[in-house]
Amino acid sequence: MTRGRERLKMMADLLPHFEPPQVICGFLSIMEDRFLMNIAKKQYREHILDALKKLDAQTFENKCTRIRKFLFSEEEWLTAKTVAVTLSVGREIETRPIIKRAWAQGKQVAVPKCNPKTKQLTFYRLDSFDQLEKSFYGLMEPNPDKTCPLESSELDLIIVPGVAFDPRGYRIGYGGGYYDRFLSGNHGKTVSLLLNCQMIERVPEESFDQRVTKLITERGVVPFSIDE
Ligand SMILES: Nc1ncnc2c1ncn2[C@@H]1O[C@H](COP(=O)(O)OP(=O)(O)O)[C@@H](O)[C@H]1O
Ligand SMILES: [Mg+2]
Repeated sequence: MTRGRERLKMMADLLPHFEPPQVICGFLSIMEDRFLMNIAKKQYREHILDALKKLDAQTFENKCTRIRKFLFSEEEWLTAKTVAVTLSVGREIETRPIIKRAWAQGKQVAVPKCNPKTKQLTFYRLDSFDQLEKSFYGLMEPNPDKTCPLESSELDLIIVPGVAFDPRGYRIGYGGGYYDRFLSGNHGKTVSLLLNCQMIERVPEESFDQRVTKLITERGVVPFSIDE
């Protein structure tokens, strides 16, 4: 039994034994909702990351190439003067070719640095891969001594990473909520790149979850459902 399921069972066993006043009851129900949401999101994350791991390297690379090709012909890409993108790790769509393409087309590239204390993102200008350093969680991030931060209003296109997505544009990230916080402020257009196997029917979204406006898979742009 996973730790999440164990806790869930413990809660189910405990709750019928006392009758808390309405306020506490409401509070508990919110806590329970959040708890269940977290379990659901965690399970989707594990399932999708596992499916990605199982793909053979060549199949994965071919799909990534197709996804990037679709991205490069989209309006959001063509018109963006500044593109914000992460440095991919593991089984994420390789983003170095995206960065190189942006530079070749005279676009400004912005890459994020995470602040693990505040869980905020700050984007820095990237002109060379030498401006990167290994950082928290083993990510490659900009070295603030070698480059300068950019205003979020400068980012025309933000390529938003994630693990699972639904046809409304909701996403499940890695669990830090970094992009939910960032996207709750003013920002440019958003696109996520994903393999078709990362699409799920419905993300169990919470009030703070932010949607992206376009999803691109190896099959092309995902048609969004009207469901709000
Ligand atoms: N705008 C926000 N302000 C404050 N906290 C936020 C905001 N957005 C998300 N969070 C917090 O971030 C945490 C992780 O969010 P979650 O959606 O589970 O992760 P992810 O989006 O990475 O999958 C949640 O506990 C949530 O409370
Ligand atoms: Mg979220």
